[in-house]
Amino acid sequence: MMKPFYPCNIAFLLILAATGSSLTGALSVRNASDQQFYSPVAYYLGSGPNIDGLKPYTGGDLTLDSSSPVLTLDYGTEAGGFPFVQTSEFVNGLINSFRTETFNISNPGRTESFLLQGGQRWQSITLLTNSSLTISEVGFRATVNIQTIESLIGAFSASDPNYASVWNLGARSVQAACVETNSQPSTWQITQDGALVPGQYPAQSVLGDGMGNYTMSFSTKVVRGGTGRKVASAMSTSYGPYFVLTSNGQVYENTDLSIVPQNKLIAGYGFTLVNQTILPSAPIRRYSLPMSISDNKWYRVTTVINSTGYLVSVNDQEVAFVDSAFIVPYITGWATTALTDGTWAFGPYLDQEAYYKDVEVIAQNGSVVYTNAMTSEEVYKEYAIATNDRPVCLDGAKRDRVIWFGDFAHTTRELATSTGAYYFIQNMIELAFEWQFLSGPAEGLVAIQPFMGAGSQYKDAYYPAQFGETDYEQFFLVILGDYFRLTSDTTLLSKHWAGTKLLVQTLIDRYLDPVSGLLAAPDASWFTAQGTQNATAPTALFAVGLNQLVDVANALNDSATASSYAALSANLSSRINSQLWSNDLGTYSLFLTELQYTSALATAFTIRAGIANASQASSSIENLSDLFYLIGYKDSTGVPNGSGTQLSPNVQGFLLESLFLAHSKLNVSANVIVPVVKNMLDVYWPVMVNQNQYFTGAPWEYVYPDGSPGIGIFTSLCHPWGGAPTYVLSDYVLGVRREMDETTGTFQWVFDPIWGIVEGLGLDWVKGRVPLFDGGYIEAEWKYDNGTTTDAKNPQMTVTVKGNNKVHVIVKNKSGEM
Ligand SMILES: *[C@@H]1O[C@H](CO)[C@@H](O)[C@H](O)[C@H]1NC(C)=O
Ligand SMILES: *[C@@H]1O[C@H](CO)[C@@H](O)[C@H](O)[C@H]1NC(C)=O
Ligand SMILES: *[C@@H]1O[C@H](CO)[C@@H](O)[C@H](O)[C@H]1NC(C)=O
Ligand SMILES: *[C@@H]1O[C@H](CO)[C@@H](O)[C@H](O)[C@H]1NC(C)=O
Ligand SMILES: *[C@@H]1O[C@H](CO)[C@@H](O)[C@H](O)[C@H]1NC(C)=O
Ligand SMILES: *[C@@H]1O[C@H](CO)[C@@H](O)[C@H](O)[C@H]1NC(C)=O
Ligand SMILES: *[C@@H]1O[C@H](CO)[C@@H](O)[C@H](O)[C@H]1NC(C)=O
Ligand SMILES: *[C@@H]1O[C@H](CO)[C@@H](O)[C@H](O)[C@H]1NC(C)=O
Ligand SMILES: *[C@@H]1O[C@H](CO)[C@@H](O)[C@H](O)[C@H]1NC(C)=O
Ligand SMILES: *[C@@H]1O[C@H](CO)[C@@H](O)[C@H](O)[C@H]1NC(C)=O
Ligand SMILES: *[C@@H]1O[C@H](CO)[C@@H](O)[C@H](O)[C@H]1NC(C)=O
Ligand SMILES: *[C@@H]1O[C@H](CO)[C@@H](O)[C@H](O)[C@H]1NC(C)=O
Repeated sequence: MMKPFYPCNIAFLLILAATGSSLTGALSVRNASDQQFYSPVAYYLGSGPNIDGLKPYTGGDLTLDSSSPVLTLDYGTEAGGFPFVQTSEFVNGLINSFRTETFNISNPGRTESFLLQGGQRWQSITLLTNSSLTISEVGFRATVNIQTIESLIGAFSASDPNYASVWNLGARSVQAACVETNSQPSTWQITQDGALVPGQYPAQSVLGDGMGNYTMSFSTKVVRGGTGRKVASAMSTSYGPYFVLTSNGQVYENTDLSIVPQNKLIAGYGFTLVNQTILPSAPIRRYSLPMSISDNKWYRVTTVINSTGYLVSVNDQEVAFVDSAFIVPYITGWATTALTDGTWAFGPYLDQEAYYKDVEVIAQNGSVVYTNAMTSEEVYKEYAIATNDRPVCLDGAKRDRVIWFGDFAHTTRELATSTGAYYFIQNMIELAFEWQFLSGPAEGLVAIQPFMGAGSQYKDAYYPAQFGETDYEQFFLVILGDYFRLTSDTTLLSKHWAGTKLLVQTLIDRYLDPVSGLLAAPDASWFTAQGTQNATAPTALFAVGLNQLVDVANALNDSATASSYAALSANLSSRINSQLWSNDLGTYSLFLTELQYTSALATAFTIRAGIANASQASSSIENLSDLFYLIGYKDSTGVPNGSGTQLSPNVQGFLLESLFLAHSKLNVSANVIVPVVKNMLDVYWPVMVNQNQYFTGAPWEYVYPDGSPGIGIFTSLCHPWGGAPTYVLSDYVLGVRREMDETTGTFQWVFDPIWGIVEGLGLDWVKGRVPLFDGGYIEAEWKYDNGTTTDAKNPQMTVTVKGNNKVHVIVKNKSGEM
């Protein structure tokens, strides 16, 4: 399932996809007056963008002129921040980066973008005018702090160097996609003169949720190019009718006048005025104006919505009636169903800039339902563009910059094993409960995808639009349990124990089907089951969450809850086994209605939940071959094979962990498991490492069967949901993890590699460090020292705890002795 795209971030892709093993770790970071910058490590200067034959860049002047107008810059790995150039000589020209922000540089000195770029490895800079420009410095002023892999607390290396490269992916992605408090400033500036908004996807008012057939007026002043707004825009996607009023003022040399001709009203529909890969827009319409629109002058613009279109006036003079008939064929699932309904939004088109103030909305019955001078700081949260007031983790550094709690299941554990930045996990837990509904139609649910810039005081408006993936609620339960297992932090969990129990009860009341005993409801959509109902994976995922909460309940001395969760989990287990285990398939079916399909997560989660017994787990793993296509495993057997088939590293990450659990908990033979693990770690994940043009040092969102990025140019190449090997390698291959000690009933650190698998993988040695929650780290190493030990088959194991005197590690050697 493709997640919708979210505004604020795609508009200014200065940069491109990426690549390369040979350049791994080449990111250069330096400090200047307490600011951190990312500087390029290589460049090419020529007539067009080029990533071959790059020259190392170690500083110094780069001169662009009409014979070499294009500068290609390589940052080595993912970098994020405000793009800047420092020019030293002459100028009077316009620079356009590959796509896409234009600077008008008329004086030597520093030029920095107002809008940040979330992440990229490549950048190109094009000189548009017939002149010469010398750049003395170029880079990104950092908005995330990406350390070199060597300087992280967590570490992993092994006799097969590819495993470290794969481990590094998740470790880098959590630094690029997890952002510190206030590090991501608003894309708007509130001034005494209203909101100053540079070209971007329009940001919309949460207060227009549920409104329709209104008249929306505002005052606007063009700074450059034009001024844009939406009406009847969908709450969750900002998809809707988009109107851009252009001025007769000066525009940049590269302005595409076929899209934004001067002094016109341009009407579009969708995300913006142009198609952007998977983000469609209706063909635009252009309307002449009966007046001239000047820069730096205020105009009052009014849009009246009726059932056949939109009447636009400027200073009370009608300029056009935009008939909505042309839009109808372009209504998609991202839109509101009625072209008359939805909120309003403000944002000029690319490279434009405008002020907005004195917004007024009048309902069809004549009542004024909204007024806003747009001069108060409260605008930021209302329009969901506020700077982040907590440390949070986004799904992707560049694309999909939304806080998705499903993806965070992987991110949580990557943080724990790489940076040890537990405060992100704690803040994400606090955030989810801050957004929990305590009453009303969504009572009990927590936010599963809040926008980074939105305010929880408006949460009612985001339900149900932002609750599309029902099983992200179950993932949140798993996150709570994982956090507890990693930390034994009863303080945070007891603070939210009532909220946790309310959530579980809500999930039972709303989604546990009384007939099947599985998760199903007409208003539910299950991401982990490709939208099917009464499915194995989401039901088993609920059992995983409940099993982990039993441990929390016990730690909090809430034995009644512990036993009821255990009983419910046992019920889910027996219902899955009685209805969804398929002897014909030799594995679990995807869902109840069409038993002939199976899915990767049905296998992964039934193993992790302890629902599959040894023979079921073994048979399910053998039958994963039904899901295999060229280089990896498909989500389900219902997905056809083809060049566009998405192979998900998110899904395969859950599967990867379950393979280690099948061996360690169920004794499934290593012979069955190792080929699957080997394919994942030796073939599938390395495509993210060994293709220089795509390499960012971070895991991807999706992968195509030919090993290229899975949604084409649109794929996030820095998506922590694809980084599960980071924690799987630390937990099971290095072998340092927290496990329940049944004798004490508490979680303890163990050093216990899953020998059957690691030997099957052919590893001779592994070493690494695992960060500890309350400071310090565990350093561990195992190796076959075949020459010197009496028992050549029993590897040497060494472990030390540094900087923490409270932690004891239980070492289990190959014979299982402690
Ligand atoms: C940047 O400055 C900070 C704080 O002064 C310091 O901790 C960090 O090591 C510096 N980073 C580099 C790459 O020099
Ligand atoms: C660029 O400027 C140079 C020097 O003024 C001139 O000779 C050349 O014809 C110009 N090229 C173009 C494409 O305008
Ligand atoms: C707006 O009017 C249309 C009919 O033209 C109606 O279907 C729709 O429900 C109305 N919307 C609101 C929010 O009243
Ligand atoms: C570019 O800057 C120059 C000098 O400040 C100015 O005269 C010109 O109008 C600017 N061009 C645009 C398109 O803003
Ligand atoms: C977007 O693509 C669709 C389908 O190819 C096409 O009909 C439409 O005109 C395009 N829109 C724009 C703005 O080019
Ligand atoms: C919508 O408004 C336009 C422009 O005022 C008008 O021509 C049209 O008849 C209206 N449609 C309806 C259904 O009232
Ligand atoms: C007018 O419509 C608005 C929005 O639908 C509604 O909130 C308000 O109560 C209505 N006012 C009257 C007087 O009917
Ligand atoms: C789930 O399965 C039960 C039993 O077959 C059925 O009654 C129910 O309608 C199904 N739920 C959904 C939403 O399909
Ligand atoms: C649970 O009970 C034990 C034994 O009475 C006590 O030591 C512990 O502090 C309690 N835990 C919590 C979180 O209340
Ligand atoms: C488990 O299933 C049994 C039998 O259907 C039922 O009586 C019991 O209430 C269920 N327990 C829970 C906790 O759901
Ligand atoms: C495991 O489950 C299968 C299928 O339900 C069953 O036939 C088999 O007896 C079970 N094995 C054990 C050891 O319980
Ligand atoms: C050491 O012994 C292990 C286990 O028998 C074997 O897999 C490995 O290849 C040996 N390594 C060397 C260097 O002989």
